[in-house]
Amino acid sequence: MSRWVTGVVIGWLIVGFASAWATAGNMSPQAVIGWKLFFDPLLSRPKNTSCATCHDPAKGYGDGMPLGKGAYGQTLPRHTPSVVNLQEAPHLFWDGRVQSLEAQAIEPLTNPIEMDMTPPEIVSRVASQPHYQRAFAAIEVDDIRIEDIVGAIAAFERTLVTGPTVFDRWLQGEKDALNAAQKRGRMIFFTRGQCAICHIGNSFTDHEFHNVGTGTANDLGRFVVTQQAEDQGSFKTPSLRNWKGREPFMHDGRFASMREVLQFYSDPPAPEVGESELDPLELEEDEIADLLAFLETLNGAWPDLSGYAAAWEKLVSP
Ligand code: HEC
Ligand code: HEC
Repeated sequence: MSRWVTGVVIGWLIVGFASAWATAGNMSPQAVIGWKLFFDPLLSRPKNTSCATCHDPAKGYGDGMPLGKGAYGQTLPRHTPSVVNLQEAPHLFWDGRVQSLEAQAIEPLTNPIEMDMTPPEIVSRVASQPHYQRAFAAIEVDDIRIEDIVGAIAAFERTLVTGPTVFDRWLQGEKDALNAAQKRGRMIFFTRGQCAICHIGNSFTDHEFHNVGTGTANDLGRFVVTQQAEDQGSFKTPSLRNWKGREPFMHDGRFASMREVLQFYSDPPAPEVGESELDPLELEEDEIADLLAFLETLNGAWPDLSGYAAAWEKLVSP
């Protein structure tokens, strides 16, 4: 079976489960504390940067820049990804170097060019705030540890689930949900366009690493973690659910729009490192338009955070 036929078959099977995609997040007390921490610049040494500075809900939980800036204004080496729909992600970061949201959170907190703290400093800053003491006491944590802090942040992140999409409705049997162009685009996505070889499943990612020719001598991607020659230039397949609003794209933010991404897949340049897994597609202009129409159907509502402020007030009221 050719590679794209395999991809299509697997894609059909796995994308089918997207219909079971949950929509409502669980606003547990732990997640409410995580919400407060996620937006709290106290967690950075100069008290000017929170997680949400870079993962801004108004920018698709990214920062809207090709490369973002840390607490002291230095440019970061990689593009800031969105943090929605990560509850099932087995690997985090573009190179997959950590395996849980808890382990992930400690990285920006302690990274000297991001938030520049140490675990004991974070604990003492949080524990010195009476509202955090009361909030953690409400979940039976009297002696706040770094595990409790990153645990709460991760619990909040697990509530960041985006809403059902037009394509989800189509999968559930609403055959008129897609218009003619979107239906043609769907066929291209799953067959000739080969997208579903890698962008499959609930979130349109196989959670694997692939070389699509975007690696550079400065950023070897997955190779940095594994030191395996075949991983040179490989990056984690990003989710395509709710792509709109979190441009620019790719690990280095090189593409400002989805159209630029499709032009890249149509005529991929020779890779700088490793071997690209892509076949040049040479898409016609009308095929690009159809693909764009289909990709639009993968966008649902962004998570609704409006209940958190009241839930927090309730949690910390004496
Ligand atoms: C200064 C900007 C900045 C700040 C502050 C920041 N991040 Fe990030 N975040 C990034 C960048 C850049 C990456 C990608 C880095 C990489 O892949 O090497 C990232 C990656 C992530 C990822 C992985 C997403 C994925 O799909 O693999 C998660 C989750 C995340 N950040 C959560 C957080 C949390 C929680 C905080 C606060 C404790 C935080 N970030 C603070 C810039 C930031
Ligand atoms: C061989 C696997 C593979 C195939 C086939 C593939 N992609 Fe990707 N895609 C990836 C990887 C890996 C990245 C991340 C590359 C990087 O960050 O440098 C990516 C990135 C993207 C992005 C950027 C998303 C973001 O958040 O930055 C979009 C959009 C995208 N692909 C759409 C598509 C479409 C549409 C097709 C079909 C025309 C396709 N891909 C085919 C693996 C693949």
